[in-house]
Amino acid sequence: MKYPIAKPHILESDVQAVADTVRSGILSIGPKTTAFESQFKETLGVNFASAVSSGTAGLHVLLRAAGVEAGDEVITTPFSFIASANAIEYMNATPVFVDVDTHTYNINPDLIEAAITPKTTAILVVHIFGQCADMTRIMAIAKKHNLRVIEDACESILATHNGQFAGTFGDGGVFAFYPNKQMTTGEGGMIITNNETIYNLCDSYKNQGRDNQNMQWLDHKYLGYNYRMSEMQAALGVEQFKRIDFLLKEKKKIADAYTKRFSENARITPPFIAPENKESWFVYTIRVGSKEARDALMKYLEQDGISTKIYLPSIHLFEYYRDTYGYKPDDFPVSEHISDTILALPFYIGLTEKDIDYISKRVLTYLS
Ligand SMILES: Cc1ncc(COP(=O)(O)O)c(C=O)c1O
Repeated sequence: MKYPIAKPHILESDVQAVADTVRSGILSIGPKTTAFESQFKETLGVNFASAVSSGTAGLHVLLRAAGVEAGDEVITTPFSFIASANAIEYMNATPVFVDVDTHTYNINPDLIEAAITPKTTAILVVHIFGQCADMTRIMAIAKKHNLRVIEDACESILATHNGQFAGTFGDGGVFAFYPNKQMTTGEGGMIITNNETIYNLCDSYKNQGRDNQNMQWLDHKYLGYNYRMSEMQAALGVEQFKRIDFLLKEKKKIADAYTKRFSENARITPPFIAPENKESWFVYTIRVGSKEARDALMKYLEQDGISTKIYLPSIHLFEYYRDTYGYKPDDFPVSEHISDTILALPFYIGLTEKDIDYISKRVLTYLS
């Protein structure tokens, strides 16, 4: 493919930092992990940060640390990457899906209260595609019903809602650094929280259940996991985070360039950003009139070397969720309609105005 869907932004200084760390001989639990965590604490203004091996791992330990238990119900969105719902399953809790807003694709706060039962203990909010969910309303609902709030900010590093960062509203938040993300460590994640108990539990669970305050290497207080981030990953993360403002700015330029070309066309729905939100651009998606039109457009673009992706299929219709909970088409019609009509276009730093011209012309030509 001439135009992949995503590409990491790697500089020689990234390579050097990873190589230096390898040469240092400190390959796990060391100064790079500490430095990476400090960057998040300082920039996001939170008390605690704990680096983990992936966003999924972060969500798992954060749900557990926040007190979600087997048999609990956790309200979440069907329009997300599957990891957000799976993390609830890992706790033997039940994900209770609530349909999404037509415009932002985030969980619809109007529908949350009807889904709350005596078994509900938490809301796992996902800030999808780099845009915050309506945290003003979600936090008010959570407070009223005494629910924990876990934020899956894996796609939304430094996104804001009314000027406040994604991940800082609830009991804790998680970021992710797979190579398609705004910044990468190859694989990796970061948990942030202001709650010391939650932090200590996360830090322990990710490290084989060692109680880090008091314990020696072979003492284990809890049933833990090995969800640690390596020093090589953290070294790359430190370098990437140093230029996160640049990375986000460049992505915004590309998003604006696409939107400029698509916004006049009645057949295309470009991304909608609510006025109270600041986007952290992760993917660039458009929606077209029908599933048939979307599928045909994807095929057409593929012939021209332009990668596209269905971003995202609705989680409840995956086989595991259908088999486990009996979900079927039409259970969450807004989410399903978005899944049926959406596609992601190539979106990475290095795409020039000429590339964007070419890609958007192909899209517009097909739709005309
Ligand atoms: C919304 C969302 N949640 C969770 C994850 C999981 O992150 P990871 O792939 O690092 O496990 C991702 C990213 O892939 C994501 O996009």
